[in-house]
Amino acid sequence: MKKELGKLKKDFEKGLKQVSDFLGLDELEQEFFGRKSGILSDIMKSLKGLEKDARKEFGQMANDVKHELLVLLGEKKEVLEKEKMSKIAKEESIDVTQPYLPKKETGHIHPMTLGTWEIEKVFKDMGFIVEDGPELESDYYNFQAVNIEEHHPARDGHDTFYIKDNPTWVMRTQTSNMQVRSMQKYSDGGTKPLRFACPGRVYRNEALDATHEHTFYQFEGLIAGKDINIGHLIATLKELLQGLFKKDNIEVRLRPSYFPFVEPGFELDMLIDLGKGKQWVEMLGCGLMHPNVVKEGGYDPEEWQAFAFGMGINRLVMAKYGIEDVRYFQSGDLRFSSQF
Ligand code: PHE
Repeated sequence: MKKELGKLKKDFEKGLKQVSDFLGLDELEQEFFGRKSGILSDIMKSLKGLEKDARKEFGQMANDVKHELLVLLGEKKEVLEKEKMSKIAKEESIDVTQPYLPKKETGHIHPMTLGTWEIEKVFKDMGFIVEDGPELESDYYNFQAVNIEEHHPARDGHDTFYIKDNPTWVMRTQTSNMQVRSMQKYSDGGTKPLRFACPGRVYRNEALDATHEHTFYQFEGLIAGKDINIGHLIATLKELLQGLFKKDNIEVRLRPSYFPFVEPGFELDMLIDLGKGKQWVEMLGCGLMHPNVVKEGGYDPEEWQAFAFGMGINRLVMAKYGIEDVRYFQSGDLRFSSQF
């Protein structure tokens, strides 16, 4: 029995030396002290078969060895614990003497792009086809097709950039160039109704100041169908503006106005609270499409009607984000665009 206990102790010490982590220590503990199949429990059980005196003597010895081993086990645990802590201190510490690395610059989406995306989404949710159009445009689509003949006085108001060597081409002055283009493309020879919208850049030869630029953005929309009337126009535009400004109580009013491609034509104002109390804000031009234009788009104006509307996006985006000078838009100034 003495020998057995001596060997047990040696085996345990040897095992302990090989242990390098908590898992190994756990296994060793089970091997020696496990209640069911541990080596020590087996020895304790075998004591039962001995005579009383021998049992007492060897029982005492076995207990002493057991305590020695438990002390060794405790010491090893402490060593492992210390190792673990110093490892954490090493791996997770922060070196406060490292030089500061500036954050990488990332790009920003221009507010006009953000605003345009938002408008596009509202239009798409309302079932509109949304499409780009050409900025270099024929005089036909920009003017003649939308009822502005060659010597029409409305041309004067557009301050057109003509292409030098070929004045039948212009930089488009309005997204209304897409009215006839979209109807010709999508009406299937004047047999199908249409909801179409188009964001885009337009150009006018204007003097630059805080509210005017030679390059700005418009959004055009039109609906063609049968039995279209002004009620449809008002309802559509109200829905659109409420979607854009995320409000459900916008009121609108129409004031008579003149655009050659609509008859009757209107300016639409909305009553909205943009933080300074409720105010009427002039928003867009609109009207029932002139029969000449409906016809140019391929529809029979006796049977089909349409309404159209167009608005400047710059002003809308300025209202939305509180931008006070239109010149920021094309400035290319990162201090401006990085705010969005
Ligand atoms: N194209 C007009 C403008 O540039 C706006 C408009 C579009 C008006 C459609 C009526 C209908 O001012």
